[in-house]
Amino acid sequence: MTRTVYVNGDYVAEDQATVSVFDRGFLMADGVYEVVSVLGGKLIDFDGHMVRLKRSLSELAITNPLEDAAYLDAHRKLIAENGITDGMIYLQVTRGNPGDRDFAYPPADTVPTVVMFTQSKPGLADAPAAKTGWKVISVEDLRWGRRDIKTVQLLYPSMAKMEAKARGADDAWMVEDGRVTEGTSNNAYIVKNGTIITRELSHDILHGITRAAVLRFAAEAQMKVEERSFTIAEAQEADEAFVTSASAFVMPVVQIDGATVGDGSVGPVAARLREIYLEETMKTAI
Ligand code: PDD
Repeated sequence: MTRTVYVNGDYVAEDQATVSVFDRGFLMADGVYEVVSVLGGKLIDFDGHMVRLKRSLSELAITNPLEDAAYLDAHRKLIAENGITDGMIYLQVTRGNPGDRDFAYPPADTVPTVVMFTQSKPGLADAPAAKTGWKVISVEDLRWGRRDIKTVQLLYPSMAKMEAKARGADDAWMVEDGRVTEGTSNNAYIVKNGTIITRELSHDILHGITRAAVLRFAAEAQMKVEERSFTIAEAQEADEAFVTSASAFVMPVVQIDGATVGDGSVGPVAARLREIYLEETMKTAI
């Protein structure tokens, strides 16, 4: 089945879904994105993703081209058109097509480009890896300094993912000044003596929507949370480790740079948080 893709207000077959070679997203990585997961045909944490989208756009002075209701309508239409039960919706907004290449931003009235497409992942919430956990390696964090803006500049995380794969791991944790920032496309956590530890929010990491929900549910479940950075050595000696993202939800980590975390199996805190997150988040799915 050919997918229906959203391009600037039109719903077109994927082989007809095109943008200009002069698009700033293509030439300058001048664009932002969001990934919203779909479970049982419903959108997870949609409002949170929209709040972050608007913040990313505003930090880059890109005009937000659509109302929230129009984004929601397009997400729902793509779910219906493509028969998505479980999976993700990818949304990208760029500064648009000024008709030529120039380092200077085009005039403010240049129309942003909006693209959305679906990725079908049946059984997304039952990923087998959640039962065994991921292996991660560490790499230096060589990204730019505004990682809180969800830009489409993903080359370095992509390189880090390839290095992880080459070394037989599932993902890479990036390290700056000796302390873990985040995973290639997820936020990183450790658990020590029952306390959940994750880096504090700043320009150094993406402010994960799943992170916000998980920390809220953890607090509601009377779990202790400490927002501070940690080293790879501390993580290797932790009782548990895990990551969160819109597509992986809460994913346990059982090995870091070859060292086993805890007893090498999925820990109770990560398992419980995954359960709570999936259960609670479904209540507000739309
Ligand atoms: N990535 N950190 C980074 C660098 C990310 O790219 C992501 C998300 C996260 C987690 O954020 P959230 O919980 O809002 O998904 C943290 C998405 C899933 C992606 O690029 O596919």
